[in-house]
Amino acid sequence: MSTPTHIPLATPDLGGYEADYLARCVNDNWVSSAGPFVVEFENQLAALTNRRHAVATVNGTAAIHLALLAAGVMPGDRVIVPDWTFAATANAICHAGAVPFFVDITHDNWSLDANLVAEVLDKSDHGVTAVIVVHPLGQTADMDSLRIAAKQLPLIEDAAGAIGAKYKGQPAGAFGDFAAFSFNGNKTVTAGGGGMVVCNCDTRAKSIRHLSTQARVGKQYVHDTIGFNYRMTNLNAAVGLAQIERLGTMLEAKKKIAGCYDAAIADRKDLMPMPRPKWANNSCWLYSVLTATPEDGSCLIHAMAEAGIEAREFWRSLSAQAPYSEMPNLLRGVSDSLTGRVISLPSSSHLDESSQGRVIEALGSWCGSTFEFTR
Ligand SMILES: Cc1ncc(COP(=O)(O)O)c(C=O)c1O
Repeated sequence: MSTPTHIPLATPDLGGYEADYLARCVNDNWVSSAGPFVVEFENQLAALTNRRHAVATVNGTAAIHLALLAAGVMPGDRVIVPDWTFAATANAICHAGAVPFFVDITHDNWSLDANLVAEVLDKSDHGVTAVIVVHPLGQTADMDSLRIAAKQLPLIEDAAGAIGAKYKGQPAGAFGDFAAFSFNGNKTVTAGGGGMVVCNCDTRAKSIRHLSTQARVGKQYVHDTIGFNYRMTNLNAAVGLAQIERLGTMLEAKKKIAGCYDAAIADRKDLMPMPRPKWANNSCWLYSVLTATPEDGSCLIHAMAEAGIEAREFWRSLSAQAPYSEMPNLLRGVSDSLTGRVISLPSSSHLDESSQGRVIEALGSWCGSTFEFTR
């Protein structure tokens, strides 16, 4: 009997003009960080997020770093960040010389808890100069409550995995003073690697662009501050642009995949979907289920692997990890309680019906412990 093909978690869906645009880069000799695809990709992102400006960067981490600098974050400042995020969000704060202040997420939406943000900022000596909100798993945080809780502080959206998601009908990336996207290989839209900062302020956008190109003034070797080599290449932008042209189709496909998983687990007492607040239209980046215990999470991953399917544990509480354990925090145990229990399932937009059928069949053959409460 032949072994079934491996079903990966999330792979690029390169079914558009990616190869054509890459060939054009080579033929026209525009392969580096200047070129028409970079500008066009930026224009598309600005339009998609209702922003005046978009600046393409080498990756999403660099985009967050530049957003922090443009927000005026200085060495030694503290920046609020959800405890349940990818390390890159906290690392970008450290790259700016600042200190992450880990705040818990809520049970009902798995994103930054606005009440806890307000609690931190009500203390006179909090030392916080900016707030980063993360949209986890393609679902937006509660932006209205967070805007109020953050008071006058700059609010940065980490929309790395949330392209195409909506909050009350408006696109992720349209809310904060700045928003950052990632286009790495597992994202709905990939550029191979890449990121983008979007904002409305002309001066800040200019400063972000300037910092991303070694703070070089004109064409001579003249620099007016310490900058970074953070600009996206035309090659990456060529792929990103071809991808964004198919965003609608890819989102539709992901929504359909998520709908099938929803139906498959609807009556189960041992698996739950991600909570879906009313305000959010989830872009279904990575469909993930919640298990009753972390042991069930590992067991599910193992069962899937046996069936040739990649399932993966999602984020862990960052403050519980060695590099961040001494940093300030305000936690209520929610982020910690999700550690090991959020398991992502194959979600590529080009996952075909028979492959998803195999995943659903494997899910059906697996049985975990039941949740203690009813839905
Ligand atoms: C929430 C979040 N922030 C930041 C990043 C960093 O993006 P990149 O890998 O493009 O640097 C990621 C990447 O997966 C992410 O998920």
